[in-house]
Amino acid sequence: MEGMKAKVAISAVLLLLQMASAASDSLPPYTNHTVGGPAGWLFNANSNNPSANYSIWAANQTFNLGDFLVFNTNDNHTVMQTYNETTYNACSADDDYGNQTSVFFTGNGTAAPVTVAVPLTAEGKQFYFSDADDGSECEGGMRFEIVVGHGRGLPPSLNQPPPPPYEEPQPAPDQSGTPPATTTQSESFYRGGSEKVVAGFAWVLVLSWLWFFIVV
Ligand SMILES: *[C@@H]1O[C@H](CO)[C@@H](O)[C@H](O)[C@H]1NC(C)=O
Ligand SMILES: *[C@@H]1O[C@H](CO)[C@@H](O)[C@H](O)[C@H]1NC(C)=O
Ligand SMILES: *[C@@H]1O[C@H](CO)[C@@H](O)[C@H](O)[C@H]1NC(C)=O
Ligand SMILES: *[C@@H]1O[C@H](CO)[C@@H](O)[C@H](O)[C@H]1NC(C)=O
Ligand SMILES: *[C@@H]1O[C@H](CO)[C@@H](O)[C@H](O)[C@H]1NC(C)=O
Ligand SMILES: *[C@@H]1O[C@H](CO)[C@@H](O)[C@H](O)[C@H]1NC(C)=O
Ligand SMILES: *[C@@H]1O[C@H](CO)[C@@H](O)[C@H](O)[C@H]1NC(C)=O
Repeated sequence: MEGMKAKVAISAVLLLLQMASAASDSLPPYTNHTVGGPAGWLFNANSNNPSANYSIWAANQTFNLGDFLVFNTNDNHTVMQTYNETTYNACSADDDYGNQTSVFFTGNGTAAPVTVAVPLTAEGKQFYFSDADDGSECEGGMRFEIVVGHGRGLPPSLNQPPPPPYEEPQPAPDQSGTPPATTTQSESFYRGGSEKVVAGFAWVLVLSWLWFFIVV
C-alpha cells in the first residue's frame, strides 16, 4: 500500500515536470521579422512616402527577446534604435546625449542593397527610425514602435555580458579598490534565469509534498 502511494506521488511529480516542459514548448520560436515585409525599409523622396506603413506592419507582429528585426535597406536610409521616446518623437538623436540610442546603420557609401539585423535584447517598448535627410524620412513615416515580450528569453548567443571595458594596466599594486561597475551588470544578467529555475523547483517540491499529504 505504501509502495503504491509512493508510485502515485512519483508519477504526479513526473506529470508536473512534463506539464512544465510542455508549457515551455508552446512558447513562440525565435523569429526574424523582415521590417515592412517584402517592401523593405525604404523611402521615396519624390512622393514623400515610406515603402510600407511600418506602424501597421509592427502592429501585426509579436516581438520577443532573441528575435531579430531584419532591415532590407540601402545607403540613403539609416537604422536608429532608441528607448528614448523624446528622441523618437523628435526624429533626431542630435540632442540625445544619453546611452539609450544606438545606430545600427548610417550607410556605407555604396548603392548596393544592405541587410541590417538588429537583435531584440531588452523587454518593453523600443523605437526605430531613419534619421536620414535631417529627419524628413522619419517625419514622413519611416518609423515605428514595438513592445518586446519575454518569449523564451534571451538565447545564450545573445545573453553574454558585454566584455569589460579596456583599462590601462595599473602599475600601483593597490588591492583595496572597489570592484569595477561591470561586475554588477554581469551579475544582474544571470540573476533572472537562476531565480526562475529555483522557483520552478520550489513549486514541484511544494506540489509533490501536497500530493503526499492528501494521499497518505
Ligand atoms: C535571424 O537573423 C540572425 C542574424 O542575421 C541569424 O543569425 C539567424 O540565423 C536568423 N534566424 C533565422 C531563423 O533565420
Ligand atoms: C497579419 O499577419 C498575418 C500572419 O502573419 C497575415 O496572415 C495577415 O494578412 C496580416 N494582416 C495584415 C493586415 O497585414
Ligand atoms: C532623451 O533624449 C532627449 C533629447 O532627445 C534628452 O534631452 C534626454 O536627456 C534623453 N534622456 C535620456 C534618459 O537619455
Ligand atoms: C545608461 O546609463 C545609466 C546611468 O549611467 C544606467 O543606469 C543605465 O543602466 C544605462 N543604460 C543602458 C541601456 O546602458
Ligand atoms: C539615393 O537618393 C538619391 C537621390 O534621391 C538617388 O539618386 C540615389 O539613387 C539613391 N540611392 C539609392 C541606393 O537608392
Ligand atoms: C556596403 O554594404 C554592401 C552590402 O552589405 C557590401 O556589399 C559592400 O561591400 C559594403 N561597402 C563597404 C565600403 O563597406
Ligand atoms: C499608417 O496607417 C495608420 C492607420 O491607418 C495611419 O494612421 C498612419 O497615418 C499611416 N502612416 C503612414 C506613414 O501613412
